[in-house]
Amino acid sequence: MTRLSSFADVQRSAIREMLERALARPDTIRLELGDPDFTTPPHIVEAALRAASEGFTHYTPSVGLPSLREAVADRVRSVNGFACVPDEVVVTTGACGGLYALLRVLADPGDEVLVPDPGWTGYASIAAFVGASARPYALDRDSGFGLDVAAVERALTPHTRAIVVNSPSNPTGSVERREALAALVGLATEHDCWLVSDEAYESFVFDGAHVSAAACADGPVISVFTCSKTYAMTGWRVGYLVAPREVAASAARAQEAVVSSVSSVSQKAAEAALTGPQDAVAEMRAAYRRRLELATSLLDELQVPYVRPAGAFYLLVDVAAAGVDSRTFALALLDEHGVAVVPGSAFGAGAEGLVRVSLCVAEDAISEGLQRLGSALATRAAAGSGRATSARPRSPIARTTTFATRSSAGGSRWAVSLPRARSRRSSASRRRRSARRCSRCAATGCSSSARGGR
Ligand SMILES: Cc1ncc(COP(=O)(O)O)c(C=O)c1O
Repeated sequence: MTRLSSFADVQRSAIREMLERALARPDTIRLELGDPDFTTPPHIVEAALRAASEGFTHYTPSVGLPSLREAVADRVRSVNGFACVPDEVVVTTGACGGLYALLRVLADPGDEVLVPDPGWTGYASIAAFVGASARPYALDRDSGFGLDVAAVERALTPHTRAIVVNSPSNPTGSVERREALAALVGLATEHDCWLVSDEAYESFVFDGAHVSAAACADGPVISVFTCSKTYAMTGWRVGYLVAPREVAASAARAQEAVVSSVSSVSQKAAEAALTGPQDAVAEMRAAYRRRLELATSLLDELQVPYVRPAGAFYLLVDVAAAGVDSRTFALALLDEHGVAVVPGSAFGAGAEGLVRVSLCVAEDAISEGLQRLGSALATRAAAGSGRATSARPRSPIARTTTFATRSSAGGSRWAVSLPRARSRRSSASRRRRSARRCSRCAATGCSSSARGGR
């Protein structure tokens, strides 16, 4: 075959790999994907239908519809608490599209992008596809995977062009405090690189409140948002980024080369989502909270350790007692017990020994899936292979954040000069509680239906 470029071999996301394996196995309990099981709220769907039937079916400006950029700027000022004008907004194909367009214009081949470990798999893939290297910085396991600014500083090199921060975090659920984010903004300013703040899960915080990095301090911050999670709109592929005008214009050009513009009907749907009633978001948040409580009570009962999340809709469960690495455990759990989860190793070395459980399914599926997980863990531990890998279960720490109250005046917040192109672990001992079989674990028949195609 005629030669392909070096990008042809970029590794695919381990989340997608698990998804495909799960889909290939009938009746799998699907706890692997971060795709809300809720349908998009009706008023949003209706806005899209109306737009389509009224002939709103053409290309839009590459940066996005003026009315949607206006709606985004309003929301950012009022909800996220930092100054924003429409010229700083680019409507993107989900957060993925925003991050790709951004890294395309922030990093040259050979440059480095610092990414959290554990962190969402997309960062490394996107960095790889723009020819940059994703350099991990360790999150602090002892604080439930909170930000360790000193670890970020240690990871910086003269080649660092951007630091990615993700709060609330996928997969850890940690929610950063204002002080930590402000320190990170300071670090980016000092080292003349960009801080890319991925706030995909901004609407799902259970302990404390979400705070946007850009609301914490003035500095070279670019914020990435999406409608995917907040409004259960993963399939609509619409998100937005907020950046200094020059960066926004460059990112829009990068996006233009790939998609010309985001789907016109999806943009109308997003506008309805941002400007319409927010009750559905509160209902989904309440449902995730209920599912989290259900999952953690069950894991407590099964004596399976986990990291308590403060936000997002995932749960990292400690499977180190199985005595095998997280990928081996996850594959066996799928093949032998019909439950799909994502191995922690997919998110970086820092999550080895853990698996990610998604709370995007109904309570009965969560319950049955975790019962089976507990049973699989108990069986392996009892078989004597339960040598620990590297997970260190601990009491999760709920960290409280306060909501941003910065001026929402319409002016630009980019008071600082834009960066130019340029060049623990604690000794706390492991608190391992061996998994034991629960009386209900014998059941393997599950009534929950497998979700298809996501
Ligand atoms: C942290 C994080 N950022 C970005 C994305 C991408 O979201 P979108 O569907 O908006 O592209 C995801 C998706 O799971 C995510 O978890």
